[in-house]
Amino acid sequence: MKKDIYILGIETSCDETSMSIIKNGTWEIATVVLSQIDIHKNYGGVVPEIASRNHIENITIVLEELLTKSKMQIEDITAIGVTYGPGLIGSLMIGVEAAKTISLVTGKPLIPVHHIAGHIYANNLEHRLTFPLIALVVSGGHTELIYMKEDYSFEKIGGTLDDAIGECYDKVAKIIGLEYPGGPKVDKLAHLGKDTYDLPIPLNDKSYNFSFSGIKSAVINLVHNENQRGNQVNIENLCTTFQNRVVTVLVKKTISALKEKNVHNLIVAGGVSANKGLREKLTEECQKENIEVSFPRISYCTDNAAMIGAAAYYAYQKGITSDLTLTAVATDTLYK
Ligand code: KG4
Ligand code: ZN
Repeated sequence: MKKDIYILGIETSCDETSMSIIKNGTWEIATVVLSQIDIHKNYGGVVPEIASRNHIENITIVLEELLTKSKMQIEDITAIGVTYGPGLIGSLMIGVEAAKTISLVTGKPLIPVHHIAGHIYANNLEHRLTFPLIALVVSGGHTELIYMKEDYSFEKIGGTLDDAIGECYDKVAKIIGLEYPGGPKVDKLAHLGKDTYDLPIPLNDKSYNFSFSGIKSAVINLVHNENQRGNQVNIENLCTTFQNRVVTVLVKKTISALKEKNVHNLIVAGGVSANKGLREKLTEECQKENIEVSFPRISYCTDNAAMIGAAAYYAYQKGITSDLTLTAVATDTLYK
């Protein structure tokens, strides 16, 4: 009988300190996520220095809580999977150093996990990924279409030329006075308004690339112009219009990529995969095209270590491990 593999996942790339134990890549034993949102919202966004200091304070507390919750000992773990990048370098370093320390003390293998691979494998915790598939990755730092012919194989089809979609949501939210992170608040308001404003569909061409800086500037200009004219901006209608435009382009390009590649499985990943408008429209369009679409559960759309533990299992199957010289990397390395 095959021996069960228990991965300790560690995620500290931004403002969540999280650890999880995942059995055989699909089964979540226990997860702890300690979010710093309440601290950073006072500054209107994540302050890197404050984030890394909080990770230092939280990391051992999170590990202790995880072991209590899972009723497991550190010796029961088969290997340690850790996000090594991309993300905030100071934050990443805390997770990587913790993983290396646990690896050194226990003698268990160390598996470096790319943060986006993690977001993708959040879907594997719902049901086993079916290949070939296309992943639409929509987060605070990424907007990409990725082709996967098999486990842990990533081929980029297209991506953003400037801002990431989540970043754009957060900036639009800030302009209209909503607290960080504004994405979920814009999403909520978008369901209460009407599509009344004149905003462009961003980069509405035949490529698989995206661009969100133009629509962000268009929203800033619109708000300024209305204020100068002494008109009040209808926030709900603005959110509806903005969300309709960005969802339109995301859905259109994703469906075109699936059709061109003749792929019938779509997974959506990253913080913005929690977006209700995107979920509704993608589900509707995929139904028409006979495409299976999968989303992570809402609590695992944003950063967590369960997704890192799941991804690490498949990296481990491919023989991806690291020695204790592993370092955190701030930039993207998924396709190298
Ligand atoms: O994946 P994530 O936790 O962090 C990165 O890896 O970047 O994504 C965070 C992003 C934030 O920009 C947040 O505003 C956005 O995801 N987000 C949403 C929604 N929920 C989270 N954006 C739009 N609609 C949502 N419902
Ligand atoms: Zn993320």
